[in-house]
Amino acid sequence: MMTASTRPLNRFVHRGWGRVARVYDFPPVQRLMYRPPQDEIIARLAVHGGRRVADVGCGTGILASRIRADLPVETVYGFDAAAGMLRRARARTDRVLWRQRPAEDLGLAEGELDAVVSTHAFPFFNHGPAVAEFHRVLRPGGLLALVVFNPEGPLTGVLQPALVREAMYWPSPGEMRTMLADSGFEVVEQRRVRRPLFGTSLVRDVVTVAERR
Ligand SMILES: C[S@@+](CC[C@H](N)C(=O)[O-])C[C@H]1O[C@@H](n2cnc3c(N)ncnc32)[C@H](O)[C@@H]1O
Repeated sequence: MMTASTRPLNRFVHRGWGRVARVYDFPPVQRLMYRPPQDEIIARLAVHGGRRVADVGCGTGILASRIRADLPVETVYGFDAAAGMLRRARARTDRVLWRQRPAEDLGLAEGELDAVVSTHAFPFFNHGPAVAEFHRVLRPGGLLALVVFNPEGPLTGVLQPALVREAMYWPSPGEMRTMLADSGFEVVEQRRVRRPLFGTSLVRDVVTVAERR
């Protein structure tokens, strides 16, 4: 799926993810790589509250399913552009409303959600349209929590050549704060994801939490 507002190469990106869906849930990778940011999101949602939550770029649906199972929510949406990822998500549970739609066009009503979360998917989105869409579907005071790798440091320049930007772009923590502040959000917290296991602390990912003004 692609709309006018997705990144130019997004169709190839999410097709690619659809193909790796089969191996994506390999337990060691999930536990070491993806679980720590998901734990942070669950903890943040538990504090903030909120009954209508969307996980955007939900992949195989692990985080959305955990939100549904662990928190006192009414409605959880899992959005992803990749059919292959959503196939696995649907097999996981039918208690989440799975939607094959791009982040830039969620197709929800204005102010419908209390929280939008996303882990390791935001770099693939077209940032401006996606953030505008999150703002549109969140109620005032609604929570936005995004986890992305920090491209600053040794990987700068390797990760961000111009060509790759057609497919993905990792915003730095500063760029993320500016983008959200300029789009009607107040950034309330930004810090590194806690990674308790030795070795995985080399992974520099950052959680940015904001509230819709
Ligand atoms: C690295 S996976 C992350 C999945 C999951 N959030 C996790 O933490 O395991 C990135 C996901 O973003 C999805 N994606 C890429 N571009 C997208 C877009 N424009 N809209 C919605 N999902 C998109 C991909 O299909 C893929 O499932």
